[in-house]
Amino acid sequence: MSSVAIIINIAQLVNVREHSQLLMGTALAELPVIENAFVLIEDGLIAEYGHMYELELKVPQLPKYVIDAAGQFILPAWCDSHTHLLFAASRENEFIDKIKGLTYAEIAAKGGGILNSAEKLNNATEDELFVQAWKRLEEVSKLGTGAIEIKSGYGLTVEGELKMLRVIKKLKEKSALSIKSTFLGAHTYPLQFKENHQGYIDSIINDMLPVIAGENLADYIDVFCETGFFLPGEMEQICKAGLQYGLKPKLHVNQLNSIGGIEMGLKLNAVSLDHLETLNEQEINLLCNQQSMLSGKGHKETICTLLPTAAFFLRMGFQPARKLIDTGCAIALASDYNPGSSPSGNMNLVIAMSCIQMKMLPEEAINAATINGAFAMGVDNECGSITIGKKANLIFTKTIPSIAYLPYSFGSNLIDKVMINGQFI
Ligand code: NIG
Ligand code: FE
Repeated sequence: MSSVAIIINIAQLVNVREHSQLLMGTALAELPVIENAFVLIEDGLIAEYGHMYELELKVPQLPKYVIDAAGQFILPAWCDSHTHLLFAASRENEFIDKIKGLTYAEIAAKGGGILNSAEKLNNATEDELFVQAWKRLEEVSKLGTGAIEIKSGYGLTVEGELKMLRVIKKLKEKSALSIKSTFLGAHTYPLQFKENHQGYIDSIINDMLPVIAGENLADYIDVFCETGFFLPGEMEQICKAGLQYGLKPKLHVNQLNSIGGIEMGLKLNAVSLDHLETLNEQEINLLCNQQSMLSGKGHKETICTLLPTAAFFLRMGFQPARKLIDTGCAIALASDYNPGSSPSGNMNLVIAMSCIQMKMLPEEAINAATINGAFAMGVDNECGSITIGKKANLIFTKTIPSIAYLPYSFGSNLIDKVMINGQFI
């Protein structure tokens, strides 16, 4: 039997789109809303929507289950397209080291950072990892996240990486959220390969990738391209091997240094280039030129995914969102949820920070965290906007005066409830 429900008297239905489209440049500020609206849900999908005055015409027979959203705004749930949500332990000791003055690079050099997480992860069982990740998924879904990308990258051994990806696969099967999985074996060089980079790259290519592809464990491939981590040429080798198995790149570039990751990422036709705290003029030009070269040709553009909470937590300058948008780039916002540089998966905070610190307009931030985020993780056909046929993944706000109130009142939890696949969670 099909299940039908209708939500009526919605103060504003936000991000209503007939068709999904990646938003670039000025289009990012256009956030279509319907005031005093309804949404019809059938079998967990959006079946119809409109103004309340169209209700009788569009839905002649009201379903039994009616939800009155008087005074509430309804938005598509957040699409968090970059996280490392699967980890075995928190790292607040390093947080204290940082307060005392050590840098991210110094902490990594003394065996902290990613290697610290890898040691803990390799000692944890699949079940332990699953339970922890499940709790985090529950937490972020209550904060409005309906789709999420999760990376491996804390295994750094064949067994560890496969363990992570198998846990993510189980999360996909058991969770109502839309989940995408990214293989980040190239997160850092494990100690035993410190002097033998090619040895580890060979292990990624020959020992990990064939199993990952055989068991269908990943949707994307990622590399941390950074001084002291993976160089652009190393990233190229790894991504080309991943592409052979159909894994498209979503890449960590320009977090701490400009070392050619942007050029290489564009050459590899990456789905997204993520972080971008450190960008020079030439790189901004490259990013905007590729957009103008490709736009209008039905080509999939490389999305710039900005992670403001990581910049915030590491006390770095924020990403130049304004420049990127004003030169025509497609921007997505994500949480980077991980124990080292962003121990928060709260997308509401990400949105607030992007408005407060990066001067994004509230409309731009909401688009970047919904429809563009959906494109950045390949769920644009099912999530990211109020569109007929998409999942009824919806945020119900508390009573708010306007959409701008969400990032403005950054310390309040303004989410009343969240619906995933037509069900309240
Ligand atoms: O996106 N920069 C690389 N990876 C993560 C941090 C990983 C960690 O510190 O555990 C990031 O910031
Ligand atoms: Fe990251």
